[in-house]
Amino acid sequence: ARAALGSRNLILVGLMGAGKSSVGRIVAGQLGIPFIDSDHEIERVSRMTIPELFAAYGEEEFRALETRVIKRLLKSGPRVVSTGGGAFINERTRRHIKKGGVSVWLKADLDVLWERVNKRDTRPLLKTENPKQTLENLMNARYPVYAQADLTVLSRDVRKEIMADEVLK
Ligand code: S3P
Repeated sequence: ARAALGSRNLILVGLMGAGKSSVGRIVAGQLGIPFIDSDHEIERVSRMTIPELFAAYGEEEFRALETRVIKRLLKSGPRVVSTGGGAFINERTRRHIKKGGVSVWLKADLDVLWERVNKRDTRPLLKTENPKQTLENLMNARYPVYAQADLTVLSRDVRKEIMADEVLK
């Protein structure tokens, strides 16, 4: 897999809770290349947390910053980059991702996602009356777009190492 990648990046996309960061970290370790999480990088450069950014500047500004950060992260490779759930949905960001390497959609069903995001409440988009319904609405709106990724791997409720192996394959 390392040779097949060459200097291209491997970019993980998909909804919150799909396992992009935890699987991405393992994949990068196996390939012996750097791992970067775009949300962490956004927090590092802005010196604010994602919820703080949403609260202070709104989603639109967040997306603009996300586009710039991801574009820069993908300039040199190979790297494994996990992206925030909305990154691939944004047209400009998606263009950078498509150009920057091999995109992999970690596709999960609602209950798997919900099980994982339910435990932490760091996601501004899920601060609604009915977060599970919101998550389902996001699935319906976004899945056709994630389907434009180069590869799709089903994210199941199994160990992260097993998911990482499937991504590598
Ligand atoms: C978002 C997902 C989050 C984060 C932000 C917006 C989204 O990342 O970028 O809260 O639009 O789906 P994760 O997918 O890592 O939770």
